[in-house]
Amino acid sequence: MSLNERLTQIQPNAIRAFDAQISDVADILKLTLGEPDFNVPTHIKQAAIDSILVDDSHYAPAAGTQALREAAVHFLDDRYNLQYDADSQVIVTLGATEGIYDTITAVVNPGDRVLVPAPNFPLYDPTVVLAGGVPTYVDTSATDFLLTPDQLRGAIDTYGDQLVAVVLNYPSNPTGATYTSEQLSALADVLRGTDITVIADEIYSELVYDGQHTSIAQYLPDQTLVLNGVSKSHAMTGYRIGFVVGPTKLIRAVGLIHQFAVTSASNPAMAGAAEALGTEAGRQDTLAMKAEYAARRDYLVKALRELGFAIPQPAGAFYVFAQIPDGLEQDDVAFSLALAQEGKVAVIPGSAFGIGGAGYIRLSYAASLADLQTAVARIAAFITD
Ligand SMILES: Cc1ncc(COP(=O)(O)O)c(C=O)c1O
Repeated sequence: MSLNERLTQIQPNAIRAFDAQISDVADILKLTLGEPDFNVPTHIKQAAIDSILVDDSHYAPAAGTQALREAAVHFLDDRYNLQYDADSQVIVTLGATEGIYDTITAVVNPGDRVLVPAPNFPLYDPTVVLAGGVPTYVDTSATDFLLTPDQLRGAIDTYGDQLVAVVLNYPSNPTGATYTSEQLSALADVLRGTDITVIADEIYSELVYDGQHTSIAQYLPDQTLVLNGVSKSHAMTGYRIGFVVGPTKLIRAVGLIHQFAVTSASNPAMAGAAEALGTEAGRQDTLAMKAEYAARRDYLVKALRELGFAIPQPAGAFYVFAQIPDGLEQDDVAFSLALAQEGKVAVIPGSAFGIGGAGYIRLSYAASLADLQTAVARIAAFITD
């Protein structure tokens, strides 16, 4: 039986694999997945229900309903001062996940390189490999988990025309690090005038606790594809709604991949997302969730630092990337397995996020404060045993 040979070069999602591995441990407290613990706000659910009740049951336009494309355009203008045309510069996708697949598939030819600052969310690399490209990593663990202009310039000098895209995910999963507007402007200066496309995964843009989120598209609109969605901002992971915006020519290519892969997203889910992104109530929903995440972050970072973990201050998203203290098991996979089996707390080993992640663990604080307190007490008991 013939299989796509590129599949032999990729592994199943390491986050989910580790989560599955420790899920059978009795009484385990899981801080593993990036899954908000909030319910979808009622007015958003109602919009989805209404869509069903009015028999909104036919194929939507491939690019997504007009209402959702307009809501996405409003959202980006209102929050980040980005301007896009709803008719020609927006594609609604099945989560940012499909956005990653569509954008990488749209720009990569066999042999092309895609720059991935690491440690990184482990979805970009396999998608590049499936497209026949070569993920090319920059270790950011010594530069506050951020790509620097010098590192970017170095990669461009080394790889020349082979380098067709750079992935920027900010705020970052797994580290929570994000770029200031000055840092983004400096990266844009290096990229301007090249043929490199920026794939800006900004799915956590609404969850920035220190300062304001800025998109690199502000500085480099003609070379940037922005990925966003409602999974994290509105706790709507299961609705599977994201979107990609960018210059018309690139969006046409992204739209082709999307159309052949999925035709279009589901109407009730798009109706819910339009309500989330297009209304003042939707903006307020996010602000309320963000205030809770901020309190959890402050608690967890402080408590873990007191236990000896070194933690880069997470400016956004809902993860803490904590360096295992000296004197404890330094292999992050062995440490995480023991912590799960003996300490009853599940975290993700940092090496699941690739280069620069070894020696760290990622904890998700998309969990109640009570659960976080229990987790800290268990970790304290585990490491002092
Ligand atoms: C950085 C990053 N990008 C994309 C996604 C996928 O988002 P979605 O649920 O919208 O597909 C995630 C989910 O964890 C993520 O952390």
